[in-house]
Amino acid sequence: MSDNVNRRDAMGMALGACAAVGGVYALAGMKKAWDPLPSVKAAGTTTVDLSTAEENVLYTEKWRGKPVFILKKTADMVAKASNNDKARDVIIDGSAYLVCVGLCTHLGCIPSYKSDTKDFLCACHGATYDASAINTKAPAPLPMLIPPFKIDGKTLILGEAGPEYNKMKEAGVLGKTPLDPKA
Ligand code: FES
Repeated sequence: MSDNVNRRDAMGMALGACAAVGGVYALAGMKKAWDPLPSVKAAGTTTVDLSTAEENVLYTEKWRGKPVFILKKTADMVAKASNNDKARDVIIDGSAYLVCVGLCTHLGCIPSYKSDTKDFLCACHGATYDASAINTKAPAPLPMLIPPFKIDGKTLILGEAGPEYNKMKEAGVLGKTPLDPKA
């Protein structure tokens, strides 16, 4: 009897230790995802340093009160990209990024990114978007909007329209009526 109790106690302690270690790893993983990229906010602009950005990790920056998603794509994502996806890629220091206002084009909820399937789901009414924030399932009517941006080396300046942004605007791939960078 006491042998059984001792064995049960030992197993309980071992399971408890495993759960604690698992919990620490899970928290470390979550913290990593929550760590923001270094950024500087100035009148109407947000400058984001991408030199430490990791692939397939969604970063959310705040720009003019709106969430802006920044996602560095993996080589696999780039290889599988459609022409529409490629047209919306922001190339910074040789890597392809998604940069978009993180608001669903249906009614404005904030979609969440699923790093395993590499797409976005809007939990409000079930719309989905691919890794270029192009709508792939109703009721989202449009891709998520690409905000005005300028590239300076490894930094991204949100709120200023650089040549890469203007090219996308001319090509009509921004997703929606673009915001006035001076507004
Ligand atoms: Fe996103 Fe409705 S607000 S699906």
